[in-house]
Amino acid sequence: MRKLNIKVAIDGTSGSGKSTTAKLVAKKLGLIPVDTGAMYRAITLKVLRSGVSVHDEAAVVRMAEETEIDQRVIDGVIHTYLDGEDVSSEIRTPEVSKWVSVVSAYPGVRRRLVELQRKIAERGGVVLEGRDIGTVVLPDADFKFFMVASLEERARRRVNELREKGIHVEFEDVLNELKMRDTLDSSRKDSPLRKAPDAILIDTSNLTIDDQVRLIINEIAKRYPEVLEIASEKGTREGMETGEADS
Ligand code: DC
Repeated sequence: MRKLNIKVAIDGTSGSGKSTTAKLVAKKLGLIPVDTGAMYRAITLKVLRSGVSVHDEAAVVRMAEETEIDQRVIDGVIHTYLDGEDVSSEIRTPEVSKWVSVVSAYPGVRRRLVELQRKIAERGGVVLEGRDIGTVVLPDADFKFFMVASLEERARRRVNELREKGIHVEFEDVLNELKMRDTLDSSRKDSPLRKAPDAILIDTSNLTIDDQVRLIINEIAKRYPEVLEIASEKGTREGMETGEADS
C-alpha cells in the first residue's frame, strides 16, 4: 500500500475533540499526528523551569529561539521532546495549562514554533492539529477542518474526563476556564484562532469521536478513494492509545 503523502490541518477550540480525532485519523490512515499545542506547552514548561518571568516577552522569545522541540510517535502515543528530553507528562500540569496562553501569544514564540512545525510537516503524510494550522502554518494543506462544539458540551466532556481520572471539579469552574481560554486564543493579535475560509466546519456538539473520524476520512476519500481501504485495514479506536484528550 503506498504511503499517502497528504497534509491535513485540524484546528479548533479547546475541548472540541480535535486532539483525539486527529490522532485517530492519523492512525487509521498511516499518517504522522502532530500536536502543536504540546509544543507551545513545552516552551512554556521551559520558561517556568528557568525562573524567567512569563511576562518578560523579550527573554521568553530569546529562549524560544534557542529551543529545539520535536515530536515522535511511539506505540501510537505522541511524545514531545524539549531539547531532547521527553516532557510529555510535565507539559500537562495545571501550571503549564495556566500560562501557555500567555506564552503562545508572543509573536516571536509563534515564529519559532511555526518554523519547527513546518519542518516536521515536511516529513510528509501528516495530520497537524492546533489553532492556526489551516491559516498560518500550512495554508496550502490538502485538507483543512475546523472543529467546534458548544461551551456547555465541551465543559461536560472535560468534567467527565477528569471524573474518570478520579479528579472532581465544579462544572462552573471548568466552563469559566474554557471561556477564558477561548477569549485569549481568539483575541490575540498574532494568529488568532480562526477558521480558514477553505476549512470544513465540523460542529461536534452532537457527534461521537467515531462520527468525527468517519466524517474526516470520508471527506479525504472524495479525492483519495484509496483511504477507505487503508482505514479499514488499520486499527480500530479500541486499539489506539489516544493519550491526553483536548485539555
Ligand atoms: O491544544 P492545547 O490546549 O494543548 O494548546 C495549548 C495552548 O497552546 C492553547 O492555549 C493555545 C495554544 N496553541 C496555539 O496558540 N497555537 C497552536 N497551533 C496550538 C496551540
